[in-house]
Amino acid sequence: MSFPAERPRRLRRTPAMRTLVAETRLHPADLVQPLFVREGLDEPRPIPSMPGQVQHTRDSVRKAAAAAAQAGVGGIMIFGIPVEKDPSGRGAWDEQGIAQLALADVAAEVGDATVVISDLNLDEYTDHGHVGLLGDDGDVENDATLRVYAKVAVAQAEAGSQLIAPSGMMDGQVAAIRAGLDAAGHEKVPILAYAAKYDSAFYGPFRAAVESSFTGGRSTHQQDPANLAEAVREVRLDVAEGADLVMVKPAGLYLDVVRRVADEVSVPVAAYQVSGEYAAIEAAAARGWVARERAITESVTAIRRAGARIVLTYWATELAQRL
Ligand code: PBG
Repeated sequence: MSFPAERPRRLRRTPAMRTLVAETRLHPADLVQPLFVREGLDEPRPIPSMPGQVQHTRDSVRKAAAAAAQAGVGGIMIFGIPVEKDPSGRGAWDEQGIAQLALADVAAEVGDATVVISDLNLDEYTDHGHVGLLGDDGDVENDATLRVYAKVAVAQAEAGSQLIAPSGMMDGQVAAIRAGLDAAGHEKVPILAYAAKYDSAFYGPFRAAVESSFTGGRSTHQQDPANLAEAVREVRLDVAEGADLVMVKPAGLYLDVVRRVADEVSVPVAAYQVSGEYAAIEAAAARGWVARERAITESVTAIRRAGARIVLTYWATELAQRL
């Protein structure tokens, strides 16, 4: 009888041994907590499609930001939900718009303890739910929308955003926003580009969370899930336009994209574990079908292992508190 010469199990015998040889570690500073803030609420309102997440009031979002910072979370990302939506999404750049008010509150609350990030898009603000201005053919008009994005970026920077994250997948959006910020004296504010953002079914719970009326599709601007080379092209373009960080989204079903992008570029790479990824694990855990905490840790670890420096996840604060 011959015995194995190689015994990988020697390195798995004890928790201390496994920790010593772990190739990937989670750290609170790697995580970004997305937060929703809704205009006109007296109380935080639970989001049924995302158990455990809420639409915050201005007051509660400040507290949630402080809790994230306290837990050592690397960044928080603010999403505003206005009461009134219109065809041009004016709440997105209005000085008194809910996101701008919340950005100012949160920036004052956390100071430099965590990075205050703003998602930049019009979909929460338009009555039709599209990411930009619509042309006569019903499709989003690229260049007209860029002018609006530049205006929104300036409004967010003036309110206190420390990192602007355009998520609309318009061609040239990073260059347009960079030019708009620079012209307004915000050349020090960096851009986190949602560079490879796929046309995914897994944004469904988020759309309910932001009360989107959207019923159409985004396949004329978001990427086809079938494609990988296209992601490399998108990411390279965004870096050339001045993106300071790039993002892949969703994360868990796109680990090959995360790996490829991390190998291609030298700017930091983020990945967004989206609402549908969150909801799927929460729903399975609620039925006792997966062990909740293990599933959370495993899913985020896999995204880091694939090459994401930063992970946006709705579990950021909870996970940071546990690490
Ligand atoms: C756009 C935006 C979306 C998400 C992040 N930024 C929605 C969309 O593209 O439809 C999705 C995040 C998630 O599903 O968790 N404002």
